[in-house]
Amino acid sequence: MSTKQRTLTEPFKIKMVEPLRVTTEEERTRIIKEAGYNTFLVHSDDVFIDLLTDSGTGAMSDHQWAGIMLGDESYAGSNSWLRLERVVKELTGMPHILPTHQGRAAERILYSILGGVGKIFISNTHFDTTRANIEYTGATAIDVLPESSLHTEEDLPFKGNIDLEHTEALIRENGPDNIGAIILTVTNNSAGGQPVSMENALALREMCDKYGLLMVIDGCRIAENSYFVKHREKGYENKTYKEIAQQMLNLGDAFVMSAKKDGLVNIGGLLTLKNDDLAMKCRNLLIISEGFTTYGGLAGRDMEALSIGLEEVFDADYLTYRIRSTGYLGEHLRNKGVPVVWPIGGHAVYIDAGKLYPNIPVHEFPGQALVCDLYLKGGIRCVEVGSVMFGKKDAAGNLIPAANELVRLAIPRRVYTQSHIDYVLDVFDDILEMRGQTRGYKIAYEPPFLRHFTARFEKLG
Ligand code: F0G
Repeated sequence: MSTKQRTLTEPFKIKMVEPLRVTTEEERTRIIKEAGYNTFLVHSDDVFIDLLTDSGTGAMSDHQWAGIMLGDESYAGSNSWLRLERVVKELTGMPHILPTHQGRAAERILYSILGGVGKIFISNTHFDTTRANIEYTGATAIDVLPESSLHTEEDLPFKGNIDLEHTEALIRENGPDNIGAIILTVTNNSAGGQPVSMENALALREMCDKYGLLMVIDGCRIAENSYFVKHREKGYENKTYKEIAQQMLNLGDAFVMSAKKDGLVNIGGLLTLKNDDLAMKCRNLLIISEGFTTYGGLAGRDMEALSIGLEEVFDADYLTYRIRSTGYLGEHLRNKGVPVVWPIGGHAVYIDAGKLYPNIPVHEFPGQALVCDLYLKGGIRCVEVGSVMFGKKDAAGNLIPAANELVRLAIPRRVYTQSHIDYVLDVFDDILEMRGQTRGYKIAYEPPFLRHFTARFEKLG
């Protein structure tokens, strides 16, 4: 937009509405108790503002919905596939494009071929499903974030970067032959949605060339990352967001994408590759487990909507609004005195619940307490990213806590307006007011894996 922006305005207008149900605090007190104080177990009808995830929760445009009607559902060689293939080839510069039903399907295909017992994978941070798909093959996944990224309030432009020195040390220590791949997660979701610089990606490419290693880009938020590169990294001011994304993706040997984020669709994924032999192996697995090579796990209409989404996401007005609106929430929270991971990332605001609730010890899960309070006070749903999600146990069964007790407020794309976000900010006034009285939780039931999805809690005190 060329005119000066006074307030944050959504660069779209609303053509179809989905009513939200307003619940009372009394109702929510009962609902959250029945759900074992786990917001994953709350029905979406009972949620007012849903900030659980930005994955598959976005709104499609009128063009995308029109594309849905044009979907070509032919089993082989459909027009919708040819269109998607063209768009993704142009974006990635890679010759082999495999469609999957979502990101983790692409991960499973790629890592079951590259993985196996004894293999080591190194990443700025493996997302949970990436780690799970690697470890499932018997391989090991190691995260190497720079030390500065662990300080949640330090203001640095590219806190999502991979630690190059540590990566090189690990390559030498384990031997290049034992490295399955180096994975750059862009933006770095689990590390606060922080961006990765082009400089870091270029240096990693050089290192992979030096040791003959495969570089994978997990780029489900590549457009959001391009925004940060353009505005924070010297030399990219005059490039378009798409050119920046093209340059970064071109550095990789493979690209894995959950299209449910920057693909602007509700379902979909991609695996793209440079190497012919690896592509052949992946295609074989694709056919066995997802579908024929020209649709993978998707309907023709899904591919049509994705082709359009991948173009729309690089629109300058859209991306400015996207990053500014996430920043708006984060900056206003910070001004109120809420400790947030700083600077604000692309798709979510992360709150340091350990700092917000210093009266709640780590083994009583301050993050879970904030998640429950936000639901109770405002019907807001979000997720704990702390010791409930990542805590481990020692031999005696004592909690080994996560590095930080964070809570993620993820912003769905093109769904909520500024007044919804202002409402969230208002609810935080209540949170700040009652912070001294908030109590912790104990786990009443937990499953053996990924406990945060189905665990049940009891409120203490
Ligand atoms: N990689 C990253 C960086 C992700 O954030 C996700 C999903 C995946 C891979 C897996 O993709 O869900 O399509 O299978 N992240 C979601 C989230 C679930 O809430 O952050 P998927």
